[in-house]
Amino acid sequence: MTQRPRRNRKSSAIRNMIAETNIKTSSLIYPLFLVDGTGKKIPIESMPNCYRWSLDLLLKEIEKCGQIGIENFVLFPAVEEKFKDKEASYGYSSKNFYLRAIREIKNNFPNFSLMSDVAMDPYSSDGHDGYVENGQIINDTTLPILGKMALAQAEAGIDIIGPSDMMDGRVEFIRNTLDDQNFTETSIMSYTAKYASAFYGPFREALDSAPKSGDKKTYQMDPRNKNEALLEAELDELEGADILMIKPALSYLDVIQSLKNKTNLPVSAYNVSGEYAMIHAAAQKGWLDYESSFLEVLTSIKRAGADIILTYFAKDFAKLKV
Ligand code: PBG
Repeated sequence: MTQRPRRNRKSSAIRNMIAETNIKTSSLIYPLFLVDGTGKKIPIESMPNCYRWSLDLLLKEIEKCGQIGIENFVLFPAVEEKFKDKEASYGYSSKNFYLRAIREIKNNFPNFSLMSDVAMDPYSSDGHDGYVENGQIINDTTLPILGKMALAQAEAGIDIIGPSDMMDGRVEFIRNTLDDQNFTETSIMSYTAKYASAFYGPFREALDSAPKSGDKKTYQMDPRNKNEALLEAELDELEGADILMIKPALSYLDVIQSLKNKTNLPVSAYNVSGEYAMIHAAAQKGWLDYESSFLEVLTSIKRAGADIILTYFAKDFAKLKV
């Protein structure tokens, strides 16, 4: 035998030396959930070790994350039913606790990056990402609402706007709205190919944001399609996106790889709530080893081509590195 591939696997030092895929804590984004009020740390049953935080405790949590090397966060609001309406108007109201939190977090941690969520669903009485009329999601009525949300977030100091709604033309609309008001430095990470997935279940429980009727299949993508993801990516690039996201990650590794081969923009992948929940559930039953399972998951997403990973495993990953 001239070739014996096992020689390159014979010790940990050699395996580490030739490893093709290495994940850095600095390329992870840690999602955090926010509620109004003080002194709150409310567990989310289907997402062990994730909480709905009030701002006072969230600031302490972010500080702790920083100590283990996490510097990038995405923030999602859990909004009380009484603030929801058809226009999602609380989303850009000056009273919105989410906007106040963005200001406070940026004041306390100016060097960390903070990403937002732009979509109507946390604030909509219909629970949809777009404006609902007679059971239809109306694309062009939604755009100005998204524009107002994005602008309010930019004014609050957000670093990266994250449109997660999948309306057509929203990246261009948001970019123009921001630029018109001189927010040329505010980035957009577009949820470029966001699939209509069963894996968002725990997240919707965390935020009480499930649609009140129907599903999201007229705007989120059909899991059977890949070319369509590349079309969405082309449009987002032309419309001014800075970073392109694929979501979920695990069932879409092929899409991540294809997109990475096609674009010169950074590619991110969202390792979503259901992907987190299933590892925890199996580990709790003793059917999987938690640590090696989530490491393998993150490695596969990185190997597929994701430059950036949004993941609820960020803290547990970072702890292994310090
Ligand atoms: C809402 C939004 C969702 C997620 C991020 N932003 C849920 C949805 O589209 O219903 C899912 C994240 C996760 O499951 O971890 N616009």
